[in-house]
Amino acid sequence: MNIVVVGASRGLGFCLVDRFAKEGHRLVAGVRDINNERLNSLSKTYKDIRLMHMDVTDEESIKEAAKRLREEDFTIDLLIHNAGIIVDGDGDKDILGISVDDFRRTLEVNTTGTMIALKYLVPLVDKSGSGQIFLITSEAGSITNSGSNLAAYSVSKAAQNKIAFILKTTLASSCRVLAIHPGRMRTDMGGPYSEIDPEEAAEGIYRLATNKTEVRQGSSIFIDYKGQEMQI
Ligand SMILES: NC(=O)c1ccc[n+]([C@@H]2O[C@H](COP(=O)([O-])OP(=O)(O)OC[C@H]3O[C@@H](n4cnc5c(N)ncnc54)[C@H](OP(=O)(O)O)[C@@H]3O)[C@@H](O)[C@H]2O)c1
Repeated sequence: MNIVVVGASRGLGFCLVDRFAKEGHRLVAGVRDINNERLNSLSKTYKDIRLMHMDVTDEESIKEAAKRLREEDFTIDLLIHNAGIIVDGDGDKDILGISVDDFRRTLEVNTTGTMIALKYLVPLVDKSGSGQIFLITSEAGSITNSGSNLAAYSVSKAAQNKIAFILKTTLASSCRVLAIHPGRMRTDMGGPYSEIDPEEAAEGIYRLATNKTEVRQGSSIFIDYKGQEMQI
């Protein structure tokens, strides 16, 4: 498969590149810094990994990456939008205490950034019915299962879930669209005391993409990395 991972520098994004590359897939790793040492070193082991500059808050960078891929007739079989942030001020303040700048910044990356990446990259996804688009969202984006923790992040991820549902309707049966909660991972974002390693989430997502995990065909496209339906 030709695979694009947006937000591939570390954490789950890096593990996804590693997992798919091991199986011989062709990877475009979208990163803010193309001098990323771990990815450049991985690309020496697996020749089919290419780094491309993609900052989801910089529309021009995504537009340029998409243009280059289009010029090469690169058809995307699997697009994984993984980029995401939690800002420092989100964890220790509630919805009334968080600064407007922190709130805005979170939505800029997690929500508007998703829209920007999809706007330019979805046109390159195979529309024959076998192309796939995975948005890495979060259980925090569940509206019904709502706490008061991480207010900005939760709002941004609920909106990202909604983007996935709208995209699914827009593309109808031409592509498979999933919004995936990757589990609580021990990454820079999740911290050292989370439940799973990002490699486990990457394995789950690999199994979903290659149909090794069957997803029950409900109306929801919001699932976890094991293929279980999530509460919207
Ligand atoms: N960790 C968890 O427990 C957990 C739980 C549920 C959902 N998630 C979701 O899973 C995804 C991956 O999380 P993670 O734990 O692997 O996080 P992470 O270790 O903090 O990595 C975040 C990734 O997003 C990239 N990124 C941030 N801002 C970007 C931008 N403007 N443009 C492009 N890329 C950008 C980062 O690149 P740089 O290195 O350049 O900053 C990095 O590659 C996120 O969408 C997150 O919301 C995580």
